[in-house]
Amino acid sequence: MTEAPRVAIVTGGGDCPGMNAVIRAVAKAARLRGWETIGVTGGFDGLFDPQACHVLDYQDLYGLLTKGGSILGSANSGRFAAKVGGGETRQLPEGLLSSTKEAVERLGLRGLVVIGGDGTMSIALQLDAYGIPVVGVPKTIDNDLGATLQTFGFDSAVAYATDAVDRLQTTAESHRRAIVLEVMGRHAGWIALYSALAGGADVILIPEIPFSHEHIAEAVRERDRTNRFHTIVVAAEGARLEGSHSAPSLGGGGADREVRLGGIGQEVAAEIERRTGKETRYVVLGHLQRGGSPTHFDRVLCTALGAKAVEMVAEEEFGRLVIYTGHGMDSVPLAEAVDSLRTVPPDGGLVRAAREMGVSFGDRAP
Ligand code: F6P
Repeated sequence: MTEAPRVAIVTGGGDCPGMNAVIRAVAKAARLRGWETIGVTGGFDGLFDPQACHVLDYQDLYGLLTKGGSILGSANSGRFAAKVGGGETRQLPEGLLSSTKEAVERLGLRGLVVIGGDGTMSIALQLDAYGIPVVGVPKTIDNDLGATLQTFGFDSAVAYATDAVDRLQTTAESHRRAIVLEVMGRHAGWIALYSALAGGADVILIPEIPFSHEHIAEAVRERDRTNRFHTIVVAAEGARLEGSHSAPSLGGGGADREVRLGGIGQEVAAEIERRTGKETRYVVLGHLQRGGSPTHFDRVLCTALGAKAVEMVAEEEFGRLVIYTGHGMDSVPLAEAVDSLRTVPPDGGLVRAAREMGVSFGDRAP
C-alpha cells in the first residue's frame, strides 16, 4: 500500500487570532486532495520529536475556525531563533539545517507550511535555501510585513483595541480625564493608528513619528480650551520620544529574544498630569489584543491563505510566502518578504486624514 502524501504545519513567533483557522484550512484542503496533514507542536523543534508530530483528522479540526491561539503552540525563542536582539538575522548552524532536512525526509513530507512573522520567515528562508520544501503564511497582529497587504491577526487586534478606546471614551468623559491606552506595535504603529481612528482618539503615538511630551500636553490643553474636557491618547509600545533611539522597555532580551517593550503608557500619562494638571490614567492592553476569537475578516483571510498554501505545495511552488493583495491571494519569494517591514508612512493618507480630524501625533504638525 502506498502512503498518502503528507504536509506538515509549524507555527512560530507570537500567537495571534487566526492561527488555528489557517491550520484548519490547510488540513481541510490537504484532506480533499487525499493528503495527510501533520500538526507539529512546539515550533520547529517539534519536527525532531515523534510525540510532537501527529496527524490532524477531522475531529481535531472542529471549532478551530473561531478558536484563538494555536493548538500547535508557538515558540519564538530557542535554537531556531533566526532574529535576535535588535532584529538582526542569525544564520542557523549547518548541523541544525541538515538534521531538519533529515527529519522532514523521515516524516515523508511533500511540503512544510510555516506560519509566522518576520523571524519565522527568516528561518523558513534558510530551510528553503537548504532544499527543504517550505511555504510561508504571514501572521502578526502588528501588520508590519511589507510583502503582504495585511497579515492575519491584525484585524482582530484592531477590533479589540477599538473596543477598548470606545470604553475609555465614556469613562474619560465622565471624569474629565486624560487616558492613555498602550497597544502593541514594536516597529509599526498600525494597531494604534487604526484603533485610534476607529475610536475617535485625540492623540496617536507611533514609532514612525517621534513625539514630545510638550506637544501632547499642548493637545490636551487645546481640547480643554475648546470645552472638550477629556482626551484619549493611543500609544504604540514602540513609540519614541524625539531624539531617543528606543522606546521604554521592560527589560528581557538576550541572545535569542527581543527586548520586551512596555511602559510608554505610564510615562506619557505621568507627563500629561505633570504638565497640564489634568487627572490622567493609563491602560496597557497587552496580550488581551493577541488572544480570543478572530474577526470575520481574519477568518476569511486565514481560510484563503491556508487553501492557497496547499495549492502551492501541490504546484511545488516552494520558498514562497502566500500574500493577500487586496483582490485575492498571490505569492512572493520568501527572500523578498524577509526584512521588508511595512511601517506607517508618516505623510500617508491615513495620517493626513487623522490630522484633518485635528488628531495630534505628539509632534509639530506639518
Ligand atoms: O507579535 C509582535 C508583538 O505583538 C509585538 O508588538 C510585541 O512587542 C510582542 O509581540 C510581544 O510578544 P511576547 O510578549 O509574546 O514576547
